[in-house]
Amino acid sequence: MKIALGADHGAFELKDSIKKHLDEKNIEYVDYGCFSKESVDYPKFAYLAASAVAKNECDFGIICCTTGLGVSMAANKVKGIRAAVCTNEMLAEMTRRHNNANVICMGQNVVTPELANKMVDIFLSTEFEGGRHQRRIDLITDIENGKELK
Ligand code: RB5
Repeated sequence: MKIALGADHGAFELKDSIKKHLDEKNIEYVDYGCFSKESVDYPKFAYLAASAVAKNECDFGIICCTTGLGVSMAANKVKGIRAAVCTNEMLAEMTRRHNNANVICMGQNVVTPELANKMVDIFLSTEFEGGRHQRRIDLITDIENGKELK
């Protein structure tokens, strides 16, 4: 499994602590930045990490900013990406089981590093349930492809 990591300056530290956690678990990752606390624009880093997932260069993305909100909006503009802002363990589980999310977004000012690590573990180990949920994912893909839903 390979993870795409991205963050802006507002979550540089959270990304670093998630990297340490992934290192401990021997999970491979690519860090798409940013690489300091200097102010940057979050859409670029969300785009770089999400694109790696969309191109199947990475299996999942973990993308963070101060709130998790901006990076999720940017990541969800990348075709094939289903990014979910998660603030608790239940959301991290359900967005895999029902939404087949391929990117988890978190906010450094919203979650503790400990909770972030727990959500990462749950997100990366929970399987998509398929079935009726696949039909709903297909409808999301239809919207993405400009199809009008009736
Ligand atoms: C940066 O100041 C902040 O706007 C960003 O980290 C993020 O929270 C945006 O949604």
